[in-house]
Amino acid sequence: MTLSLTWIGHATLAVNIGGYTVVVDPFFADNPTTEATSETVAADYILVSHGHNDHIADAVALSKHTGAPVITTLEVAGWLEKQGVQTHGLNLGGQLSLPFGKVKLTVAVHGSQMPDGSYGGCAVGFLLTSPKGRKIYLACDTALFGDMRLIGEEGVDLAVLPIGDYFTMGPDDALRAVKLLEPKQVMPYHYGTWDLIEQDPDAWAQRVSAETSAQAHVLKPGDTLQLVE
Ligand code: NI
Ligand code: MN
Repeated sequence: MTLSLTWIGHATLAVNIGGYTVVVDPFFADNPTTEATSETVAADYILVSHGHNDHIADAVALSKHTGAPVITTLEVAGWLEKQGVQTHGLNLGGQLSLPFGKVKLTVAVHGSQMPDGSYGGCAVGFLLTSPKGRKIYLACDTALFGDMRLIGEEGVDLAVLPIGDYFTMGPDDALRAVKLLEPKQVMPYHYGTWDLIEQDPDAWAQRVSAETSAQAHVLKPGDTLQLVE
């Protein structure tokens, strides 16, 4: 069965896992890195990491267009439910088994306010486990934190880490994150969308190769990374 991850652009991903498509943090209309829209992207499930616009902007439209339920935090789920979206509202550390595999909400050190200014609870990351036990860690928006080591203890096959700086970890802290997580493979994202978070991903990948045993993959928006299931 296919296990792959497409970087739609910014923090938006489409993960093919267990025969299903899981779209993470749908942000299309105002996303300068993609032409994708909530009408053109396929989704069986949607994950939303927190309430900031660059992660949730098109979640309602994508869910309504595809019928995909949203897996997120209790607070974000409540906000989406009011707009008629079907959700699973978990909390930090909670794991849910679904037909595509398992999804666990991991700690992220970041804010979360809904686009209308209402309370958004805690920001989270996600640990996905495929039917054959492959683990993909999506850090989502976060600072570096030492307990990434605990996530790494689960055996991470692919870590997807922000390197943009300003809103999240920058390249230096993301490199330290690789050392804590010890993933087999790593992919940077949440950079290059706007001038504020412009970075050199190839230079970062070279540092990863020089200082860790992880294999770094630099994708362009729209590119797909194939993984061994
Ligand atoms: Ni954010
Ligand atoms: Mn963000």
